[in-house]
Amino acid sequence: MAGRVQGKVVFITGGARGQGRNHALRLAAEGADVVLFDICHDLKTVAYDLASPEDLADTVAAIEGTGRKAIGIEGDVRDFSALEAAVDRTIETFGKLDVVLANAGISGRAPGHEMAGWAATAGTNIVGVMNTFHAALPSMNSGGSAIATGSFAALKPGGIGREPSSQAYSYAKRALIEYVKRLAAAAGGLGIRVNGVHPTNTNTRLLHNDQQYRAFRPDLEHPTREDVLPAFASMHLLPDVPYIESDDVTNAVLYLASDESRYVTGQFIAIDAGAHLKLLD
Ligand SMILES: NC(=O)c1ccc[n+]([C@@H]2O[C@H](COP(=O)([O-])OP(=O)(O)OC[C@H]3O[C@@H](n4cnc5c(N)ncnc54)[C@H](O)[C@@H]3O)[C@@H](O)[C@H]2O)c1
Repeated sequence: MAGRVQGKVVFITGGARGQGRNHALRLAAEGADVVLFDICHDLKTVAYDLASPEDLADTVAAIEGTGRKAIGIEGDVRDFSALEAAVDRTIETFGKLDVVLANAGISGRAPGHEMAGWAATAGTNIVGVMNTFHAALPSMNSGGSAIATGSFAALKPGGIGREPSSQAYSYAKRALIEYVKRLAAAAGGLGIRVNGVHPTNTNTRLLHNDQQYRAFRPDLEHPTREDVLPAFASMHLLPDVPYIESDDVTNAVLYLASDESRYVTGQFIAIDAGAHLKLLD
């Protein structure tokens, strides 16, 4: 039986691990060939480790294990030329590009790097998304789908924290909403759709790290996973949900990547266990 994205070629930033890896594996299982683009080294402004070259190689091998083709490319979404070269390689290898997922993101919060933290976070989470789409869209044709990963942080008045990298995170994710709408309006006449997803807390390294735990439990010096679970869950309207799984986001991404959503554009789907509804007056 044909998969839901059978024969499509998909380009994913931040694809070596976490949500990006999960999207890649599921889309491959549904018939897509995949190009993974990931920085594969740590940043001093980010208080947790980013993906490694081994993660990228492992994800490529896992996709190949599904019987689909995969390419892993190390690069930084803040570098437009690197993205242009990666898209060129995609076209040389597969002859086309159907779906682009601008998923790479950081939630920095490393102490002592305040304005560098702002620059790296905004550079990755908004400029990096723009770079990804601007490198990819000129090579895409009618029927193409571009998908940005936003965040519940975009929907939360006041954002997720006052230090510069957290302000940059909220700003970048919020700015994506207007950007996706404007790009969708521009690309619609060409038959290319542009949408996004807003995940809440998701079970990846970006959430599970000491710095993030301290942001949720500033009253404790060394909060543990158990210490933060009630604070995580208190964000959500649906009961007993401290965080969602990458699969919950992938389900929405697969829908937006496939032709099932052929008349949907300029939209964000919030996968947030009703968190935004708790903000109603
Ligand atoms: N985990 C959460 O709680 C959560 C919640 C809402 C939104 N998000 C968003 O989901 C997306 C995916 O994050 P995740 O949860 O899988 O975390 P993650 O840290 O596991 O994955 C992020 C990936 O992006 C890569 N990356 C980071 N900076 C990059 C750069 N400049 N260039 C290329 N690659 C880069 C990392 O190496 C890593 O592989 C991000 O945009 C994040 O902001 C995450």
